[in-house]
Amino acid sequence: MNLDSERAVALRHGPTRSVHHIGKEDDMNLRSKKSLMALGAGAAALTLGLSACSGDTSESNDGGGSSGPEVEVFTWWAAGSEKAGLDALVGVFNEQHPDLEFVNGAVAGGAGSAAKDLLQSRLQAGDAPDTFQAHAGAELQDYIDAAQIQDVSDLYSEFGLTDAFPADLIDRLTVDGAIYSVPSNIHRANVVWASPAVLEEAGLDPEAEYESIDDWIVALDAVQETGKTPLSVATTWTQVHLLETVLLSSLGAEDYNGLWDGSTDWESSEVTTALENFEIIMGYTNDDRDGLDWPDATQQIIDGQAAFNVMGDWAEAAFAEAGATSPEDYIYFPVPGTAGVFDFLADSFTLPVGAPNEDGAKAWLETVGSAEGQAAFNKAKGSIPARTDADTSDFSPYQQSAIEAWGSDVIVSSLAHGAATPVATLNQVSDATSKFTTGASDLATFQSELAAAVAG
Ligand code: GAL
Repeated sequence: MNLDSERAVALRHGPTRSVHHIGKEDDMNLRSKKSLMALGAGAAALTLGLSACSGDTSESNDGGGSSGPEVEVFTWWAAGSEKAGLDALVGVFNEQHPDLEFVNGAVAGGAGSAAKDLLQSRLQAGDAPDTFQAHAGAELQDYIDAAQIQDVSDLYSEFGLTDAFPADLIDRLTVDGAIYSVPSNIHRANVVWASPAVLEEAGLDPEAEYESIDDWIVALDAVQETGKTPLSVATTWTQVHLLETVLLSSLGAEDYNGLWDGSTDWESSEVTTALENFEIIMGYTNDDRDGLDWPDATQQIIDGQAAFNVMGDWAEAAFAEAGATSPEDYIYFPVPGTAGVFDFLADSFTLPVGAPNEDGAKAWLETVGSAEGQAAFNKAKGSIPARTDADTSDFSPYQQSAIEAWGSDVIVSSLAHGAATPVATLNQVSDATSKFTTGASDLATFQSELAAAVAG
């Protein structure tokens, strides 16, 4: 199955990183053949070629509602620290549900950059995985509107989840009285990660605080002088991630929120100023950015090639994985101008309409929602538990700070990670951003394309 998914993505998007597996491989079964067929004749031809070398065509889990040992979990946590997080959750699943077998449907590409398209093709072809990852908020609305996911409120009662999550998180998950997913975590998007060694080399104090983008630019200039990269960034989605934090910094939380409910005018001079800031900031980034994904940009901090990187706190897990654990190895702080604001996103898991193994999917959701599952997963993922009662005593100092901030900061929704806008809007924002950062549009065009994207 993973092989099929990977080939299918390659057909649509060109080569991706390799897909990694956990548990029994489920190559070339009926479900994955259907996903390839959905991608057109060329893909179907490839399926036939692959089937010819497969002896396993026995699986017949093809309709919703049947039970079997295999549970296909679709995510984009395919490699590195993200896979380590998934592995930790699978460990708890295996303990809690020893009769079931986790099948890894992960599709590589940060922020679901390849996974979301493939998932949509599969859903439209009636080839749903048993469960898939989706962000709480506007992104979930897409799947609800398309009747692709089921109401799981009954499971909240059955598993005792209703009081386990903060009420405002439940609100963000609730649509017309129904709840369509179980959140696994809370991530923070507005974090700067930095290399103290590179800062010192540039004559900067690693403990310095930058109150605004303007203050930060002085430091970026100092790093520029040393020949190191002031700010590492990667492919388009990471640039959109950077853009959202610059919008938040420049506009403040209230006007940033207004971008999504129509009360802030995308064509206003305040937004022009924010986009000018973004343009300036992008001027300090690495030229090879479009060929990289987030782990590569974070690695530049770990390797002492770059001073700063703006990334969600899944980066915390990458530092931990690299053995960077002390303030001499790396430091972190809110994006300048966003202290006291928590730019939020939450991964959650769904019960698709037509899930081949509904009982297995429900068991996965039980593990995702359990205090044990949340503690194990989030410790490894860099995030914090969505549950308020999970044991976080052995979480890292960064994670302890995030737990505190989540409890006291103003919460806003992430653009790049499905909390603020539907997928179609984000796709248009991404296209406009890529045009701008590759020099194919000017700032005025960029601004009007963003305005058009959000207006829908
Ligand atoms: C986000 C997701 C995170 C992390 C990140 C990078 O969209 O919510 O869990 O995986 O993408 O891939």
